[in-house]
Amino acid sequence: MTDSETTLCILGASGDLTFRLLLPALGQLLTEEPDRTVHLVGAGIDDWTDEKWRSVVADSFATADASGATVEAVLAGARYRKSDITDSEDFAALLDTCSGTVALYFAVPPAVAAKACTALESVDLPDGLILALEKPFGTDEASAQLLNKQLTRVVPEEQVHRIDHFLGRSTVLNVLGLRFANRVFEPVWSREHIESVAIRYDETLGLENRAGYYDKAGAMVDMIQSHLLQVLAIVAMDPPATLDAADFREAKATALRATSVWNHDPAANSRRARYTAGSINGRELPNYVDEGGVDVTRNTETLAEVTFAVATHRWAGVPFTLRSGKGLGEKCSEIVIRFRQVSLLPAGFDGSTEPSVLRLSLGADKMALELNLNGPGAPFHLDRATLEADFSEGERRAYSEVLAGIIDGDPSLSVRGDTAERCWHIVQPVLEAWAADQVPLEDYPAGSSGPKAWPEL
Ligand code: BG6
Repeated sequence: MTDSETTLCILGASGDLTFRLLLPALGQLLTEEPDRTVHLVGAGIDDWTDEKWRSVVADSFATADASGATVEAVLAGARYRKSDITDSEDFAALLDTCSGTVALYFAVPPAVAAKACTALESVDLPDGLILALEKPFGTDEASAQLLNKQLTRVVPEEQVHRIDHFLGRSTVLNVLGLRFANRVFEPVWSREHIESVAIRYDETLGLENRAGYYDKAGAMVDMIQSHLLQVLAIVAMDPPATLDAADFREAKATALRATSVWNHDPAANSRRARYTAGSINGRELPNYVDEGGVDVTRNTETLAEVTFAVATHRWAGVPFTLRSGKGLGEKCSEIVIRFRQVSLLPAGFDGSTEPSVLRLSLGADKMALELNLNGPGAPFHLDRATLEADFSEGERRAYSEVLAGIIDGDPSLSVRGDTAERCWHIVQPVLEAWAADQVPLEDYPAGSSGPKAWPEL
């Protein structure tokens, strides 16, 4: 935490992201760590007054039970400015109203963010300006490269925060503690002892009126290209010397530079499917293609699964399967580490001899280690036993963690430019194979666990 003064200027102040995620996260951060001096400015195309903005901020803060003197001060001082951020003069005038270090949070569609960055190129910018951008970061490797070039014409790379809220999730960060602070894990965290890794994010949510964005992204780009590859990087990386931005992000980048589709064969190592009508816990979901705004000719998948290889000394030969989907019967978000069979099980044991499995749950913040232990009956009969531990829930929401990084000017938990490009590079062969119809688009009824024929992960 720094004791400097920061203006957090949210571009797209009237949007859903601002109300639902950013402001509650800010409220929580300022409640729990009130020692920051933050000014809040909202900017947007709506004709709002400061009073209107303050009432929106107050309502949103209330959803996070935000309270205390700092929260009250930020609320009382919150200002709104109607602005066209694609216009340099208007943008300059907006920046003139901000004091201290300015952090611009682009809570606007990517096309608007890109135009706004072009506008910024001809503005006299405040020192230390921070730019925070949401995913999707480009639409492919080439567009991500262009966007990166554009951004670094505006500010140095360290001042660009490419947001991936999964990097702020406490369980994802717990993987670091589990691995690097426990001798029982890090020495076995390699191909010698681990047979496979699965990273899964199954959601019960459907499209939720997000066709405008989701129908162009699909499960692959929405989740695998972004969040789940970041989780893979944290599971696969070598221990960094420190957790500061330079070391931590380089360790992730190294792992991702070694990552590619298994056997370089996307047709054989990826699957895609789309939900049809069904019911989830009593809630009816329509056929995906009948949802408002969906263009059936896009062939958008709502469930994607891809197996990757991480070609490093540590991981050669170990498949990393990433899967995510919507409209599934059960929420299941976990990292599953399957260990290899022991080199030799002494003759005489019977019962459960399945290899050990470590499950790190991303939803319920807990871990479970499945082991074979002698059961209560016959002395050499093995029963499956599960050791479970709750991770501390993490005091901060994922977005609070991310906002803390932005306000403090620490990019450790944001995606570095080359890594953003690399993640597109990794999935590009899969997107191409799908566009060429080399992988069938299967279907599954909403509320099921996916197409029946898909092997259990
Ligand atoms: C978002 C995706 O980035 O992450 C959503 O766009 C997805 O489609 C969400 O539902 C999952 O994250 P969380 O934290 O909301 O479970």
